[in-house]
Amino acid sequence: MDKLIINGGPRLNGEIRISGAKNAALPILAATLLADGPVTISNVPHLHDITTTMELLGRMGLELTIDEKMNVQVDSRTIREFFAPYELVRTMRASILVLGPLLTRFGRADVALPGGCAIGSRPVNLHLQGLAAMGAELTVDGGYIRATAKRLKGADLMMDLVTVTGTENLMMAATMAKGVTVIRNAAREPEVVDLANCLIGMGAIIDGAGTDTIRISGVESLSGTHYEILPDRIETGTYLVAATMTGGHVKLKSTKPELLEAVLSKLHDAGAEITTGDTWVELEMNGKRPRAVSIHTSPYPGFPTDMQAQFTALNCVAEGTGVITESVFENRFMHVLELQRMGAQIQIEGNTAITTGVAKLKSAPLMATDLRASASLVLAGLVAEGSTEVHRIYHIDRGYETIEEKLSNLGAQIRRVPG
Ligand code: EPZ
Repeated sequence: MDKLIINGGPRLNGEIRISGAKNAALPILAATLLADGPVTISNVPHLHDITTTMELLGRMGLELTIDEKMNVQVDSRTIREFFAPYELVRTMRASILVLGPLLTRFGRADVALPGGCAIGSRPVNLHLQGLAAMGAELTVDGGYIRATAKRLKGADLMMDLVTVTGTENLMMAATMAKGVTVIRNAAREPEVVDLANCLIGMGAIIDGAGTDTIRISGVESLSGTHYEILPDRIETGTYLVAATMTGGHVKLKSTKPELLEAVLSKLHDAGAEITTGDTWVELEMNGKRPRAVSIHTSPYPGFPTDMQAQFTALNCVAEGTGVITESVFENRFMHVLELQRMGAQIQIEGNTAITTGVAKLKSAPLMATDLRASASLVLAGLVAEGSTEVHRIYHIDRGYETIEEKLSNLGAQIRRVPG
């Protein structure tokens, strides 16, 4: 298995381009199952999770063509099976996103029940409850969700919890249901809005995406379209934290700063000078050591849980004490154990990490456990004394396009060693 070797020290400096958002590309790829013509998607990030999703769609019989710029065309007219096998679902939970589209367009789906993962049990009960309320017959048998529906019907769905992929799955299912569906306590993430905009481009009738109440009026069919994926706000935030930790100065292009207001506000509190344009964000630390910040993760527009691990790493080398509370997932502090091995002073109390910053972390061999935790270990390696090895970096490759290339372009001393 590959590993990354990082020599700590250099301040990051320079400009890089941000890729398309993984968490928008995944549901939008699933949405191609709804269209009765080809869907062309541009700005697709080149990530392991994306290739997994394309492999899943290909196995179902869809025709996929990809050009050198990672523009992807998907044509579902050649579909021949409605099955998402365990060996793919276990590597990527977001495969559950094919359930809603398959059910509403073809009336049937056999999808492996996603297991938990390092950050939590991550049930999909709310996805299934919503589909059942829309008239689907669902049984779980041998680790698979067996689902059928003559024709889904519109329903008034009050979500017990804010769930991003739950909202996305049910919104897709509702696009071709009979009648109107209302999703209350809906997720408001920008990636939900991006999916809604793509569906509207296919002919769906959707109001309220981006608010906590989404109304969908079912239509008979959806057509092909072209759609450009929005920039990845979490990748943007991750590189901004890297620059803040190293005291550097970076400019990130092809991004959308308005999507990460909560993150920019915390970076400002940490002492960063930030300027923004519609499609770029610039951060300058002038060599200063960051100040510790306190954070409470919550659904959008609150502080994103996907940025928690990165800010925990920042607090490890910041001045003062920071308190980070993780309220979305039950086990998202796996990176703390690894950071402590580098000399970080972190105390865990329930779902809170209390950090007292140290002047320097010490390099150590580290093991990545989940996507964002592994990013936080790379960030720690950028500022640690000596050479840090991060193992099991397939976690990173799921969500960060060519991370070592982008960091090297910013002056980091980082290389990938094939394992
Ligand atoms: C999405 O996961 C993202 N993944 C996650 O990003 C992100 O961390 C998460 O939303 C929260 O923002 C994709 O979009 C592909 P949830 P999702 O359903 O939809 C509970 C990354 O790093 N819940 O919003 O799976 C759940 O256990 C990944 O890119 C239920 O109880 O998250 C959690 O505690 C990691 N029952 C909370 O809701 C359900 O049926 C929020 O989960 C569904 C969710």
